[in-house]
Amino acid sequence: MKDGDLTVNSTFSFIGTGNMGGAILKAACGIIDPDSIYIADSDRAKALTLGSELGCNVMEGNLQAVESADFVILCVKPQIIGTVLDEIAPVLRKREADGNPAVLVSIAAGVSISKMRSHIGAKQPIVRVMPNTPALIGKGLMIIAGDDSVRENKIAALEQMLSCCGETMRLSENLMDQATTASSCSPAFVYLFIEALADAGVYTGLTRENAEKMAASAVLGAASMVLETGMKPGELKDMVSSPNGSTIRGVASLEKSGFRGAVIKAFLAAYERNTEMGK
Ligand SMILES: NC(=O)c1ccc[n+]([C@@H]2O[C@H](COP(=O)([O-])OP(=O)(O)OC[C@H]3O[C@@H](n4cnc5c(N)ncnc54)[C@H](OP(=O)(O)O)[C@@H]3O)[C@@H](O)[C@H]2O)c1
Repeated sequence: MKDGDLTVNSTFSFIGTGNMGGAILKAACGIIDPDSIYIADSDRAKALTLGSELGCNVMEGNLQAVESADFVILCVKPQIIGTVLDEIAPVLRKREADGNPAVLVSIAAGVSISKMRSHIGAKQPIVRVMPNTPALIGKGLMIIAGDDSVRENKIAALEQMLSCCGETMRLSENLMDQATTASSCSPAFVYLFIEALADAGVYTGLTRENAEKMAASAVLGAASMVLETGMKPGELKDMVSSPNGSTIRGVASLEKSGFRGAVIKAFLAAYERNTEMGK
């Protein structure tokens, strides 16, 4: 924590300390004072273990966790979030009435701000955050969507805290299902691609270890080229495809197998499911 940090004097409560909540929490404790972090989980033993490991405060339950923190970060499964919101709503409403509202932050896929607000009340400041699994190693993309209910300085402080997990991006809430697909579902598609490349490498004589390393490094390097050079993927593909060379033969074979169409179809299937879950 440095002077001038937006998160100075901000306090954060995490409700749910499982895979994603636990990962954000651990990373957050690396950049902000663990004493300004409160945690609660229905599995209290898990919360106590994390609390003693990280030095943050373990609360008796969800109600205690929302009593005073500036940000209440819900990291429970989407199907449980309604129950948790109903439980904490009286405390949040009282804080709002007392002029000390918490900013409610949800990382649950597919649960809209209006759906959450229907459990709590019209004036509750709410932000949605969509993390992806690379956040577990600090290389994630944390997509943030708020509305007019949240003040800019609060969003900026949240953004700063979430930067512990990688990059952050602000987006309009009406694009969250698309973003969930593009950012949170797509790592699984990329893992399939890496696995297939590695299988082919093994088929042609490479060891599994070397083949996986080469495939993953190629994906990492190619992604960095797109992000760091500002060049279009098509231009970069053309750069490695020399006339009558081996790469263009592989590219032509992928096109013949409908590679791009298959990827678009997979995206649309996942997107459809994301929109269904939000209803
Ligand atoms: N994992 C991802 O890749 C990913 C990516 C993007 C978004 N998300 C979102 O992240 C959220 C959490 O997912 P996850 O994978 O981290 O789930 P998880 O590992 O199951 O973590 C949820 C935690 O909340 C606890 N919990 C359950 N009911 C509770 C309650 N009433 N009060 C307090 N704590 C409670 C669970 O305890 P028990 O284990 O005892 O039930 C568990 O420790 C989901 O909404 C998901 O949509 C996840």
